[in-house]
Amino acid sequence: MDENRDNAIEAYARHIYPGKVDFYRKYDIMLVPEKRSGCFIYDMDGRKYYNCHCNGGVFNLGHRHPEVIEAVREGLDLYDIGNHHLVSKPKAFLGKMIAETMPSGLNQVVYGVSGGEAIDLAIKLSRGITGRSDIISVLGGYHGHTGLAMAAGDARFRDQFKSQSPGFAQIPYNDMEMMEQTISGETAAVLLETIPATLGMVTPQDDYLKKVRKLCDEHETLLILDEVQAGFGRTGTLWGFEQYEIEPDMVVLGKGMSGGIYPITATVYHEKYAGFFKEDPFVHISTFGGSEIGCLAAMEVLKITNQTTFLSHVIDLSRYFRGRLHKLGEAHPSLGFKLRGLGLMLGLEFKDETTALFMIKLLFDKGVYVVYSGNDPKVIQFLPVLTITLEEADQILEILESCFQLMAA
Ligand SMILES: Cc1ncc(COP(=O)(O)O)c(C=O)c1O
Repeated sequence: MDENRDNAIEAYARHIYPGKVDFYRKYDIMLVPEKRSGCFIYDMDGRKYYNCHCNGGVFNLGHRHPEVIEAVREGLDLYDIGNHHLVSKPKAFLGKMIAETMPSGLNQVVYGVSGGEAIDLAIKLSRGITGRSDIISVLGGYHGHTGLAMAAGDARFRDQFKSQSPGFAQIPYNDMEMMEQTISGETAAVLLETIPATLGMVTPQDDYLKKVRKLCDEHETLLILDEVQAGFGRTGTLWGFEQYEIEPDMVVLGKGMSGGIYPITATVYHEKYAGFFKEDPFVHISTFGGSEIGCLAAMEVLKITNQTTFLSHVIDLSRYFRGRLHKLGEAHPSLGFKLRGLGLMLGLEFKDETTALFMIKLLFDKGVYVVYSGNDPKVIQFLPVLTITLEEADQILEILESCFQLMAA
C-alpha cells in the first residue's frame, strides 16, 4: 500500500466518497487514522486524537482491545465465518450468554452483520408475529439505512430513494399524547432508541418508556428497543433499558458488540414468539450474520462489559465527567451549555449550531475527536472510551476546558 497520506486522501476522494473529502477539507478536520490503540487514534501524519465519539459505541472498549484481539486470533486457528445452514457452537454459546444477561424470556437471538439489518429483522418479526403492518418510530430517530430501518427513519434518507413505505409513522419523542393518538389495533410495533442519539442524546422524561410499555401492552403491540448505541455498558448498566425498569419484547444490539474488531449484530426477542421461526426457519437468512469469528469477539465483549467492576467504572467516570462539565458550563454562561444523556452516552448542548461546530473544530485541533448529532447539530455527541483512566479523563477535560475558555472569550 502507498504510505503517503495525500495519496490516500486523493484515492478516497476518487473512488470512495468525494463529498466526504470536500466536507473535511472545507472545515479543515481531515483525520486519516493509521495506528490506533486504546482511547487514541493516530493520524497518518502522526497526530494523536482522543476518540470521544467511538463511532457511536463501536469502540466502547477502545481500539484493538487486547482480549478481543486475542479471542479472534485464537479463533482463527480453528474457525472461519461458519455456515448459516448449520448448527454452530460459537453462535449457540454467544446466544446463551446474551440470554443470561437479558430479562427472563428474552432469550431468542438472531444475528446480523449491521445494525440496520438487525432492525429490519425486528420489524419483519413484529409484523410476522402480530400479523399487523404498522410501525411507530420517532421523528429524528435513527435506525440505519437498510430497507425497513430506513422506512422508520428520516425523510432525508428515505424519500430520494423512493423508499416511503405504507404503515410507518414517525412521532415526536417523549410525546405520550401523540403516541396514544397514533397507536392502534394495526400497530405491530413501537420502535425506539432507548436514548435517541441522532436526535441529540435525549433522555426519556416522565416515565415515558414505562408509559409506552403499558400502552403497547394494552394494544398487544410489540415494543422494540434499539440499543445499538446504548448497549454494552455505555449508559452504566449493561443494557440501557434496565435503568427505566421496563422489559421490551425485542432488543436490537450492534456497534459495541463487535469489539471494534469484527462486525456482528443481534436481534433478541422473547421466547413466547419463538414459534414463529419454528414453522419456517429459513424465512430469514443472513449468510454472514453471526460469523463465528464475530461471535468470538462478541463473547469477549460481553464477558468484559458484564463485569460489575467494568460497569461501576463507567458510572464513576460518568459522575466525574458530569460534575466537571456542569462546572464548565456554569463558568462560561455565554455558551448556553447544557448536558444531556445517560452514563457515558453524553450530549454536550450549546446555545446554537455555530458554537457547537466551532467547539468541534477547536477540540479537533487540540486532539479530541467528536461529532455533532445529525438531527440536532447544536449537540455534540460525547462518547469517550469506557475503559479510560481517570488521568486520561482529566486530560480530555483539560482540553475541553481550554476550548470552553477560547469559545467564551
Ligand atoms: C441507534 C442506531 N441504530 C441502528 C444503527 C444502524 O447501524 P448500522 O450502521 O450498523 O447499520 C445505528 C448506526 O449508527 C444507530 O446509531
